[in-house]
Amino acid sequence: MAAKRFSEKQLTSEVLYRMRNTKNKRLKQVMTAYVRHLHAFIREVKPTQDEWMKGIQFLTETGHWSTGKRQEFILMSDTLGVSMLVDALNYEASAGATQSTVMGPFHREGAPEFPLGANVAKNAADGEPCLVTGTVKDVKGRPIAGAKLDIWEGGADGLYDAQKGDDMNLRGVFRSDAEGRFHFTCVTPTFYPVPNDGPVGKMLVATGRHPMRPPHLHFWISAPGYKPLVTHLFRKGGKYLDSDAVFGVKPELIIDFKKGKDGLTRASYDFVLMKAGRE
Ligand code: BEZ
Ligand code: FE
Repeated sequence: MAAKRFSEKQLTSEVLYRMRNTKNKRLKQVMTAYVRHLHAFIREVKPTQDEWMKGIQFLTETGHWSTGKRQEFILMSDTLGVSMLVDALNYEASAGATQSTVMGPFHREGAPEFPLGANVAKNAADGEPCLVTGTVKDVKGRPIAGAKLDIWEGGADGLYDAQKGDDMNLRGVFRSDAEGRFHFTCVTPTFYPVPNDGPVGKMLVATGRHPMRPPHLHFWISAPGYKPLVTHLFRKGGKYLDSDAVFGVKPELIIDFKKGKDGLTRASYDFVLMKAGRE
C-alpha cells in the first residue's frame, strides 16, 4: 500500500487514530489529551529545530539531576504550579477541614518515632527552639486519638538533613493522645531557597523568578478511616509569604510563631481531618 503523506493538520488525528486500540480506558483518555495539548502547544509556539532540541536537552538534564535524594522533576512540577494544581483538584477540604498544600521533595520514610514532647532537633545550632502544640480532630470536633503526625523542616542554615548527608534530623513521627492532643519541640522555621543549582534553578533565573520559600513546618497527618492530610504551617510575618516559589501558601495555614519572655517560641494549631471517602 502506498505511504500516506500527512498534512500538519492530519498529523494529530493520525496519532490519535493509531492509539485507538489502547485497552486501558484511563490511559487512552490521558494519552489522547496529552497528544492533543502537546500538538496544540507546538502549533502555538512554532519552535525552530534548535529550540526543540534545547527543550529536549532541558528535560534530559532534569532526568540526569534526579536521584533518590534529589527529584528535579518534582521540583519542576512544584515551581510551575502543577503540584498545587493536582493538589487542588484532588483534595477539596470540606467545611472546617484543614487545607492541604504541596508535599515537596524532602519528606523521608522511616523518620524516628518520638514520644510526645520530644525535641526533633539534634543540635543547638539547628535553630531557635520552638514548641508546637495542637490537636487533631474530625470535622464534628471529635478528637482523633493515635493520629500519626509525621513532621519535617529545614534548619536555620536553610537546609534539610538530606541535603547534608544520610543522618536524619529535624524530622520525626508523633502520635496524638487520647484527647487528640500533640506537642513537640522543633526549631523556629526560617525561609530558604528550593534547590536551585540544577536545570530548574536555571529556569527560575531565566524567567526572572526567585527560588525562595517562606518559613514553614511540614506535616503529614494520617489516621485510620480519615483522608491523609499533607500540609504546612507558615510563620506569620515571614518573608516570601506572597511569592512562594512553589505557590504553596494558603492564608488559613499562616499562624503566629510567638517568642515568649522565656526565649521559647510557641505555635499552636488544631488540625481537622476529613473522613476517608466523601463527607
Ligand atoms: C520544601 O518545602 O522544602 C520544598 C517544596 C517544594 C519544592 C522544594 C522544596
Ligand atoms: Fe519545606
